[in-house]
Amino acid sequence: MESLNNFLGTYKSTVNTALENYILTHTNDGRLRNAMLYSVKAGGKRLRPILLLATMEAFQKDPEKGIASACALEMIHTYSLIHDDLPSMDNDDYRRGQPTNHREFDEATAILAGDALLTLSFKVITEDERLTNEEKVFIINKLSTASGPRGMVDGQMQDMLSENQTLALNKLEAIHKDKTGALLKFAVLAGAFLAKADTRQIAEMTKMAEALGLLFQIQDDILDVVGDAEAVGKPIGSDAGNFKSTYPQLLGIEGAVSQKNYYADISLASLEEAGVNGTVLSELIAYLSRRDR
Ligand code: IPE
Ligand code: IPE
Ligand code: MG
Ligand code: MG
Ligand code: MG
Repeated sequence: MESLNNFLGTYKSTVNTALENYILTHTNDGRLRNAMLYSVKAGGKRLRPILLLATMEAFQKDPEKGIASACALEMIHTYSLIHDDLPSMDNDDYRRGQPTNHREFDEATAILAGDALLTLSFKVITEDERLTNEEKVFIINKLSTASGPRGMVDGQMQDMLSENQTLALNKLEAIHKDKTGALLKFAVLAGAFLAKADTRQIAEMTKMAEALGLLFQIQDDILDVVGDAEAVGKPIGSDAGNFKSTYPQLLGIEGAVSQKNYYADISLASLEEAGVNGTVLSELIAYLSRRDR
């Protein structure tokens, strides 16, 4: 079996090169391009693109065909972070180990760089030569659903509305599903679809991804309390400062850790049901649950 480290070594640089090329090809020289490149090249972990490509690998399909979808997803994720950090949202000054986009440039530029990354994501899928027209429509449809008003954007809306409140656990879980889970679920769904997984496998992979989305945001919330700012590349204590609803706030750190482990178990069990355990993907799930950055 290929190891996660080898897989990351190959595909992180493939994704980084492709992302930079897409931006250079489709933007004019100047401030907007610079602001887009600033956040994209800042050193994100690239977990969403890797998840998409590792899902293809798990179904024994060459991940090459997934590169455009993986980059489109990372563009949308990066846009969501630029806007998430704005003064009107989480008001954070550091991201990916450097000043946030609005700090380095200004608010208007940060808003526009986010808008540009969002729209460019769809363009790169339409122009990819490795995808059939049918695949392009499927990918764009699922990506817009995951990132739009019944996905990430609504999750962000609910997250803002839940500041200064004590939510029931099921309401918090619903927010996590939308704001974070939707893009991770897209990664798995797109990877399984492009790899031509069957209906039963796609159903199991969907369960896997839903659990993965929850464990990922729970770990993000835990790191916001007990993480190391330098390692995570963003400020610690942002959630408490904004009176956000989080798992640690509702359940304490120990309660949050046990919920995270519960979802890690579900995620790995569903992977086994789909018949693709023992792959790079299994290692990736285990890594996402214990990550410190
Ligand atoms: C941070 O995501 C935002 C959340 C949805 C929790 P990541 O932890 O994947 O951030 P990067 O891409 O590595 O910067
Ligand atoms: C934001 O969640 C998820 C997004 C859709 C951007 P957080 O606000 O917890 O993300 P971080 O901690 O700032 O990365
Ligand atoms: Mg936020
Ligand atoms: Mg934030
Ligand atoms: Mg956070």
